[in-house]
Amino acid sequence: MMSESVKQGISFSKLDSFASEAEKAKTAVESMRGKDMLGWMDLPYNQSEIVKNIKNYVKEISFCECFVVLGIGGSALGAVALFNALRHTYHNELPQSKRRHPRFYCIDDADPERLNALFDIINPHKTVFNIITKSGATSETMSQYLIVVEYLEKRLGQKAKGHIVATTSEDSGNLIKIAKEKGYKTFFIPKSVGGRFSVLSPVGLLPAAAVGIDIDALLDGAKKIDEVCRKTDFKNNPALLTATLMYMAYRNGANISVMMPYSFGLRTISDWYCQLWGESLGKAENRLGEKINVGQTPVKALGVTDQHSQVQLYVEGPFDKVVTFIRVENFRSDVVIPNGCETYPDVNFLCGHSLAELTNAEQKSTEYALKKAGKINWTITIDKIDEFNIGGLMYFFQMQTAYMGELLNINAYNQPGVEEGKNAAYAILGRTGYEEKARQMSQDETEKKYIMEI
Ligand code: PA5
Repeated sequence: MMSESVKQGISFSKLDSFASEAEKAKTAVESMRGKDMLGWMDLPYNQSEIVKNIKNYVKEISFCECFVVLGIGGSALGAVALFNALRHTYHNELPQSKRRHPRFYCIDDADPERLNALFDIINPHKTVFNIITKSGATSETMSQYLIVVEYLEKRLGQKAKGHIVATTSEDSGNLIKIAKEKGYKTFFIPKSVGGRFSVLSPVGLLPAAAVGIDIDALLDGAKKIDEVCRKTDFKNNPALLTATLMYMAYRNGANISVMMPYSFGLRTISDWYCQLWGESLGKAENRLGEKINVGQTPVKALGVTDQHSQVQLYVEGPFDKVVTFIRVENFRSDVVIPNGCETYPDVNFLCGHSLAELTNAEQKSTEYALKKAGKINWTITIDKIDEFNIGGLMYFFQMQTAYMGELLNINAYNQPGVEEGKNAAYAILGRTGYEEKARQMSQDETEKKYIMEI
């Protein structure tokens, strides 16, 4: 990231000149810890009772062979990221004797084919559906819920309610009312925790525990990063230092943040990151209400796969990106490339190395190619993928996002752009109270639209 290494980089003296701005961002975040929408900062510390309840509930549903999350955005991406990072790559395909925990699926859209396909492969008697929606009003999730309830009630009658668990707000929204009426098991999303910051609340912890992930270790990892960030100054606080560098790079024209883990298991950590960074930091107005239209566009890439596609653009294209690599020092398993090509030196050089070595050599080589081209990038190295490190990594990105929000002087916790789309969908589908919106929309539609029929 530094000009001492790359042409596009930032000089140490320039970085030093941002120290007080960075410390101000940290003070602002600390002053809001646990308050307003910063309840996520308390999650590593205040959930011992909740963790106990989650574990007890997982025991209660020991009949469950298939655990399905119905949710979207912040109510889905964290659970998917945890599952892919921390379970066997082919968990769902393993025989029960090896899997030892339920299969896991998440439906985070309104695609009819996807939900019908799920019904083709599950046994309703052995499936639990976790409906997750903080607002209890999201069209996709509530539609999925209604379809699933009908599906279960037709097949299981009175027993259907034992196959549904709702994760929602304790005292607002429709889902909690429905859950009470129907007698569903419930877990709560604190008021002060927004969707994309909720992975370490029951939103992510319940599905994680259901598939056998150690949720205590996830929270311990988050705690460790929180302590490091809280107790250290600017240059020793990894989330604050990197947020400041990202901010400075953005101000220098790096409008794109590429997240590129070199691990297949971490591929959906990038999806989760893209939502966190994009939805939190892409804002029209600053805190003073001035129009600023800020935000770095998050892009996901996967090492080594995207070395053979997008990396060409990253190396030779415009100077408009920061590439974040995630490198895993020790893979959970490895494969040595065997001999067998002695007469072909151009292939033989691979023999004796392992796939982990190859992956990490390619990460280093992409880093080198970017550096040579003068392009900024930085690398997070984790010694291995486990609950402690993944909890820490996700908490780290949340802290980095919070600091970046302060540096940009925006509210990182609202999403008026998303709400606009949600409201428009209500209007199109005829929800009471959205008649004026529907009228406005149909006027806009007829005004200027060019339709090409082929
Ligand atoms: O981060 C956010 O706030 C959003 O992505 C929400 O999580 C998403 O829109 C789903 O909202 P809800 O949980 O209310 O259904």
